[in-house]
Amino acid sequence: MASGQRPAPRSQALARRSRSAGAPSRVKPAETGERPQDDGPCTRQNFDKRTSRFQNRNEFIAQIAESSFYAKVPDGRLPRSAVHIYIRKRPLFGYESQKGEYDVVKVDTAKARCVVHNCLMHPDMRRMFLQHTSFPSTQAFSELSQNADVYAKTAGPLLQQVCRGEGDVALLLMYGQTGSGKTFTMTALEEAASRDLFSAIRAPGTPGKSPKRPSAGQPPTVVVSVLEIAGRSGRDLLSPHRNEVSFVDMGDGGIQVHGIVEATPQSPEQLLSVFQEAKSRRATESTAINATSSRSHCITNILLVRQNMIVGKLTLVDCAGSERKEDSAHHTAQRRKEGAEINSSIYALKECMRAMASGATHIPFRNHLLTRALKDNFTTPGAQVAVIATCSPTATDTEHSIGTLRTVCSWRGVEDWITTKKEDVLSQEQRRRLVTGVEPAFQNLKANASQAAKAERVEARANDWMQKRKALMDQKNSVPSEGSNAKRPAASRPQPPSSSGASRPVSLAFNPIPRDEPLTPKGAGYRSPVAGSRVRRGSAAAANTRATASRDSTKASGGDFFGGMQGMAYKKADGVSHPKTWTHEQASKWVMDRVHRKLPAGTDGKALLRWSHAKCVTFCDKDEKAGLVMFNGLRLEVDHVAAVEKEKRQQILGRK
Ligand SMILES: Nc1ncnc2c1ncn2[C@@H]1O[C@H](COP(=O)(O)OP(=O)(O)O)[C@@H](O)[C@H]1O
Ligand SMILES: [Mg+2]
Repeated sequence: MASGQRPAPRSQALARRSRSAGAPSRVKPAETGERPQDDGPCTRQNFDKRTSRFQNRNEFIAQIAESSFYAKVPDGRLPRSAVHIYIRKRPLFGYESQKGEYDVVKVDTAKARCVVHNCLMHPDMRRMFLQHTSFPSTQAFSELSQNADVYAKTAGPLLQQVCRGEGDVALLLMYGQTGSGKTFTMTALEEAASRDLFSAIRAPGTPGKSPKRPSAGQPPTVVVSVLEIAGRSGRDLLSPHRNEVSFVDMGDGGIQVHGIVEATPQSPEQLLSVFQEAKSRRATESTAINATSSRSHCITNILLVRQNMIVGKLTLVDCAGSERKEDSAHHTAQRRKEGAEINSSIYALKECMRAMASGATHIPFRNHLLTRALKDNFTTPGAQVAVIATCSPTATDTEHSIGTLRTVCSWRGVEDWITTKKEDVLSQEQRRRLVTGVEPAFQNLKANASQAAKAERVEARANDWMQKRKALMDQKNSVPSEGSNAKRPAASRPQPPSSSGASRPVSLAFNPIPRDEPLTPKGAGYRSPVAGSRVRRGSAAAANTRATASRDSTKASGGDFFGGMQGMAYKKADGVSHPKTWTHEQASKWVMDRVHRKLPAGTDGKALLRWSHAKCVTFCDKDEKAGLVMFNGLRLEVDHVAAVEKEKRQQILGRK
């Protein structure tokens, strides 16, 4: 919908049938305030911008909060000029929030930028988007800014300049839509100015510095007049009956006001009461959006006069609100005419400011009574103008906030400083999908993390296991060979298992298979842990001899790791059997021989092979070494079986 199109009030939002060919005539009443449902490809509903902003309130608020546009806006502080542009955003009031309004304006005071988020619908009236617009300024004030801060940066410096008494002229002008805080800010500035004015003109040392100042040393007289311009007529707000004043053409395009009352306050209190008196007489008219909306411009002239000469002039203008057509829908013809008049005066003002900011020699101030009354402020050399653009934060007033800010930027000639960006808004359904899409990914991430942790634990355990194994290997390597075992002192030799069971030492002197040595070293033979079995090399008689010798030495040493298997009753015909084929009795015997513990009933060799290292340690009453002997020994049994079978295969193939 074009921005100039007249939007209907929310309650009268249009629910029109789509013009699409063949669209069913399903029309939903907009009064329900519900979001338009997806009625299929042929139907859509049209709502004015305000209605759609309310209907999609949550989505717009979420998107505004998430948007990165505000954080990325460039610095917008304007360079010095005769025209200063200030922006002040008023707070969002509680009653506005209750009506469903939300904040669409953000102010970055550090960057002097004001960003307005325009909440709009695509032409399909289903998809939403945000149109961000950022405006530069001399200084921007947020809803948190205090009046004192605003004064210190705006009216304060102008007042100080005027009070130098060197004929300076300054204009402070409030511009903005009705209800945006023009009068609020102006009142605060007037109060602060009344306080400062007298101290500034009486300050010792300030007078007499300039040769331009006549009779320096005498504080000037303060002369105040307040004029209200409504339409083409003016009224004196300091006369009790708001007398109409007449304007006399000065020939140079300027005007002089005849019959206006001029007050000469002597103290801050008197000046303040003058301001208040004028304000109370200000013409106000109730409108749909602001019960005290001003329908006129209020021009307050503060002159500093010395010896009938004006040595300083500060003009404060509280402009009438720029009325919106839709807000004046219920107004009378007279009120609508007033609105048109206000707009034309604002336009004339705008033209003058543009010319002044651009340094043009011709200022078109003759176009309106208002600009003629402000002729001095536009034409005096060195004149300063400060405009405070006030804006409302509500979504309903978006277009007016943008209009106000665009206008003041054009007055200053900095339209190219304005930046805009479009951003699509996620619907609730899209947000839901995003969240449900994120959840599985998150779960995956968690699973991967736990797998990684598990892998780390396994790796740590394997390292631990390898270290222990290496320690045992080193220990074994440091033990003298079986042949010399008998010569070792008894204390250094492995002790036989105790039959009492009170102390059950584990024989660690097992004989792991060194990988770089043949499995069946000549003359010794590798004795299988399975009873009596050994790898045969050479003749059976020689092997028998070696086996007997080995058995004997094993008995002498108290039984080493494998020697303890002598006489076991579970040998196979070929002399070795794989642990997985062991019965419970065979497995029990093996375990008893190795770690002197009783295997639980029903556990056979196959089950035993499945025991982890940790389980072996637990089974051995947390005895790490015993657990390792058991776990490791089983695997060596398996290795041994494989080695024997390989040997057999080699023999069959005739390679040995
Ligand atoms: N910065 C602000 N802080 C608090 N209240 C504000 C502010 N600006 C405006 N208001 C309030 O908003 C309402 C409308 O302000 P007003 O100055 O009358 O608007 P305008 O003169 O632009 O029509 C008033 O009730 C005023 O007190
Ligand atoms: Mg006002």
